[in-house]
Amino acid sequence: MSGNPVSSPVLVFDSGLGGLSVAAEIRQRRPDLPLTYLADNAAFPYGLKADEFLKQRVIEVIGAAVERDRPRLVVLACNTASTIALDTLREALELPVVGTVPGIKPAAERSRSGVIGVLATPRTAQSGYIDALVRDHGDGRHFIVQPAEGLAREAEAVLAGAAPDLDLLRGLQEAILAAPRGEEVDTLVLGCTHYPLLQAELEATAPRNWSYLDTGAAIARRVDELAPQAGQPAAADTALLTALVGPDTGYARALARFGFELDAPLHRPA
Ligand code: DGL
Repeated sequence: MSGNPVSSPVLVFDSGLGGLSVAAEIRQRRPDLPLTYLADNAAFPYGLKADEFLKQRVIEVIGAAVERDRPRLVVLACNTASTIALDTLREALELPVVGTVPGIKPAAERSRSGVIGVLATPRTAQSGYIDALVRDHGDGRHFIVQPAEGLAREAEAVLAGAAPDLDLLRGLQEAILAAPRGEEVDTLVLGCTHYPLLQAELEATAPRNWSYLDTGAAIARRVDELAPQAGQPAAADTALLTALVGPDTGYARALARFGFELDAPLHRPA
């Protein structure tokens, strides 16, 4: 599987539409790269699933897409999947795999007050992964980690055309403000790739003027380092899903707005 040609796509994976925030950054930095967007929409949301299930699932679904499209590299545009399956995936594939890590390190560098809020899926928030990042890269700063149940689903609904549930967005941010030292927060880490898709709505409902931080641009920089120039403009980018959605749905229209045409659904491993 190694040494796939430079005309082969970069495979961008997420449980749903969240990885589009990362795909947009990659496209902005490297418009020459063909992209395939892979969403495991049949198993969405990952943020409430068990580790063992997710580890196996991510390997199976990405493995099937790699067989099909022979990408040059894989971007795991999902914090939840990265915290659980990045090492296993790197062992299983003979391809470079770029993971997604909540922006603990850049937030520690950026924050002036030294108190930082983090929104993450319940799975990521409870994984111990953020604690390890804080220990290794938190530079002694104080982090308030808020599990954001329902926020990835909300991002998908808004992307598909629903009105945002402003109470949900306000409530999650107010929970950070109400935590010990919450009044000192100046930076909010968006620790799930779905959340930057709601950044305007989060800012509109923020109880304080926080600075928001995600790692989409950093992932695009890493892809840029790893992917040689394709040399010709990318053909139409395609989206692969694990569950069928009709072309006339909010889901398909959201993919189209980000430049992805629906392909036949990926054969789902039994
Ligand atoms: N977009 C994913 C992440 O970055 C997870 C969303 C979900 O499936 O819960 O964590």
